[in-house]
Amino acid sequence: MSKKLMIDFLGYTLASPLVLPAGIMGISSGSLARAANCGAGLLTTKSLSLKPRKGHNNPVTACFEGGMINAMGLCNPGIKEGLEEVRDFKKRIESPVIASVFGTSPEEFYELASYVNKSKADFIELNLSCPNVLDEFGVPLSASKDSVYKIVKSVKSVSERPVIAKLSPNVLSIKEIAMAAQNAGADALSMINSLGPGMLIDIKLKRPVLANKFGGVSGPCLKPVAQKLIYEASSCVKIPIIGMGGVISGKDVIEIKMAGATLAGIGAGVFYRGIEIFKKVNREIVKFLNEAGYENIGEVKRIK
Ligand SMILES: Cc1cc2nc3c(=O)[nH]c(=O)nc-3n(C[C@H](O)[C@H](O)[C@H](O)COP(=O)(O)O)c2cc1C
Repeated sequence: MSKKLMIDFLGYTLASPLVLPAGIMGISSGSLARAANCGAGLLTTKSLSLKPRKGHNNPVTACFEGGMINAMGLCNPGIKEGLEEVRDFKKRIESPVIASVFGTSPEEFYELASYVNKSKADFIELNLSCPNVLDEFGVPLSASKDSVYKIVKSVKSVSERPVIAKLSPNVLSIKEIAMAAQNAGADALSMINSLGPGMLIDIKLKRPVLANKFGGVSGPCLKPVAQKLIYEASSCVKIPIIGMGGVISGKDVIEIKMAGATLAGIGAGVFYRGIEIFKKVNREIVKFLNEAGYENIGEVKRIK
């Protein structure tokens, strides 16, 4: 991989600014390894809860012109088994891993962080923002600055890993939410989670495409929303941001960095261009850097 792609993030030097976001490749050590081998510099697990979750019934994903919609329902094998996969992965590959966790209260997040302390994961990410479990859990936690503050504070009191708060786009003031996370001690933000929920209709069957009816919206249609929210959040916080939402090309990475992100996640893009997307986008970034006269990716800064 080109040295021009190397970038510092919370004390780690990553080989690439590209991140595999939570939930995209499942949870197995093999799928994390495939993303690492294809050029992702940082890998995130599926969001893990204290107990295993079956998730929603199929169909759980569907594509449309501008993106995709999903209602996975946070299916996962539970924190213990999920972190075993991270252990297996680390036996083979040194790339840093973010353990994404999902709870419903500061106490649950505290317990999840205690598990992550004993694991091989390098970072913990708090999924405060899943839009496709509204029936079960109500409005995502990151809709409230008080909830965000309490949860991050609780995790910071126990975590031996840097803490990343994953934020929702579905909020009135992203600045307030981002500040609440930073004030509670978050080391970084990850944004944005899927938008919505939204809905797609099958006109032949005359019913919603997803069995759950509604699901989170990801992919290219999210790009302008992600850039605007990252631009706003980065105007008021000092902590780094893992930016995501519609990144599928090298140009998108440069744009999201100019919006204020340090790293760039590629989620739905994996469904568009295959797992090789990490390799392809790394190449596209280097081409851009060479043509535009940048020495390395770190020189691409937030616009005013
Ligand atoms: C199939 C699928 C599953 C996802 N699962 C999770 C998850 O478990 N936890 C989470 O924080 N985000 C989850 N997300 C959201 C992504 O991590 C990402 O924030 C979002 O899709 C926006 O990025 P993108 O446009 O590059 O996909 C999921 C997204 C998709 C498409």
